[in-house]
Amino acid sequence: MSNHNQGVAVITGASAGIGRVYADRFAKRGYDLLLVARRKDRLGELSQELQNKYGVKVDTLVADLTKREDLEKVGSTLASNERISVLVNNAGTAVVGSSAQIPIANVEFQLDLNARSVTYLSQAVLPGFIKRNSGTLINIGSVLSFFAYPFSTSYSASKAHVLLYTIGLHDELANTGVRVQAVLPSNTYSEIWEVSGMGVENLDPETVMSTDDLVDAALAGLDQGETVTLPSLEDISLWETFDAVRIKMFHAAQTKKAASRYGLGK
Ligand SMILES: NC(=O)c1ccc[n+]([C@@H]2O[C@H](COP(=O)([O-])OP(=O)(O)OC[C@H]3O[C@@H](n4cnc5c(N)ncnc54)[C@H](OP(=O)(O)O)[C@@H]3O)[C@@H](O)[C@H]2O)c1
Repeated sequence: MSNHNQGVAVITGASAGIGRVYADRFAKRGYDLLLVARRKDRLGELSQELQNKYGVKVDTLVADLTKREDLEKVGSTLASNERISVLVNNAGTAVVGSSAQIPIANVEFQLDLNARSVTYLSQAVLPGFIKRNSGTLINIGSVLSFFAYPFSTSYSASKAHVLLYTIGLHDELANTGVRVQAVLPSNTYSEIWEVSGMGVENLDPETVMSTDDLVDAALAGLDQGETVTLPSLEDISLWETFDAVRIKMFHAAQTKKAASRYGLGK
């Protein structure tokens, strides 16, 4: 049943894969929904299904988030609807191959969707969240936010943007009631593999998670107060060490002296 107090969860890329499961789970938690993607028919079917299943109100907004006018349309909805309490920036695409050979238009499309739209929509929703001192922003990165295969260079770079942007927002909003989480999935069964032209069937099935498990683990991480959630990483000390070294290295580099290995000193 719709719980009016929960407000509205906005999920981009809700027509498939991970976004579709987020839509189901937020509806299950009693949120009304606003589902965003390009495929109107898919959004319509999912909207009907979730309204019947959970009795929540589900609106849809057809938008290509790589298009400026569509981004502005979604952004102004995020900025003006005071019932919006959750934004999941999930829509994303994967362009893979040799950087010297991939058509630049495909790389630009990927940057626009994976990095620019996440930034734009976060900025659209945050003033309202801050004003109300509540709200949850979830940005979907990837384990490729901190690793690049020779064929995933620009995808990885776009996801690196999502990770550091989300960590930065978390720090900016530390003294507010606004929650921020970066979710970093590893291989997950979805259409993205088909879209990118990489067959998921070529992967070891032991390395590929279901979208249900991915989203349920990510939401458990959110409930546990995590800022960065790696659903498939068993040993969390690996992330903690990486994060601590990242911060320590930044502070260690705050000096006017060139490092001695460059031989500038006497
Ligand atoms: N699957 C994995 O292995 C994996 C691993 C790490 C991270 N991720 C990340 O997880 C997120 C979800 O991916 P997924 O695996 O669920 O992929 P997916 O099944 O291909 O779903 C992608 C979603 O994004 C939407 N989308 C694509 N282009 C769009 C555009 N221009 N404007 C608006 N919406 C657009 C698609 O809907 P329409 O086509 O209807 O627009 C679809 O709903 C992405 O950010 C992806 O990078 C996935």
